[in-house]
Amino acid sequence: MNGDIQIFIGSDHAGFEGKKKVISVLKDLQKNDKKLNFIDLGTDSKIKKVDYPKYAKLVGNKVNKNKNNYGILICGTGTGMNIAANKINGIRAAMGYDLYSAKMSRIDNNANVLCLRSRDFNLNRYTNIIKTFLKTQFSGIERHQKRIDLIHKLEK
Ligand code: RB5
Repeated sequence: MNGDIQIFIGSDHAGFEGKKKVISVLKDLQKNDKKLNFIDLGTDSKIKKVDYPKYAKLVGNKVNKNKNNYGILICGTGTGMNIAANKINGIRAAMGYDLYSAKMSRIDNNANVLCLRSRDFNLNRYTNIIKTFLKTQFSGIERHQKRIDLIHKLEK
């Protein structure tokens, strides 16, 4: 991604520990990239149970405000966040299962939100997937743009 980018992050209680790891990855990336900014929109505890759609909405609405905005959402599995975020018009949320999914979600789908699971993910895995997502550009290839436009037509 080029230029200043703003990343909004959110998790539910089950994703809270994962979000802490995501924050440490982003802080590390900031050391070499002064144009990368992030804002944590909660939740702020792994004890108090919350509903993940609320955080998907908070992040999705912020992502929609600017084309240089991106989101990272974390829940226990990543799946609930992914389903919820993709209900928001303008959001193209990808599951970051692995490096290939993260990379192709940018190249083909121009994904603007990355969903990650908290369970069974270590810092190294977060680092590699987040780096891959952030460094990979959308191909801009016409057939892919056409398909993205068709996706957004489904919103109407
Ligand atoms: C919360 O227990 C859990 O259901 C949630 O974090 C997520 O995994 C849902 O998809």
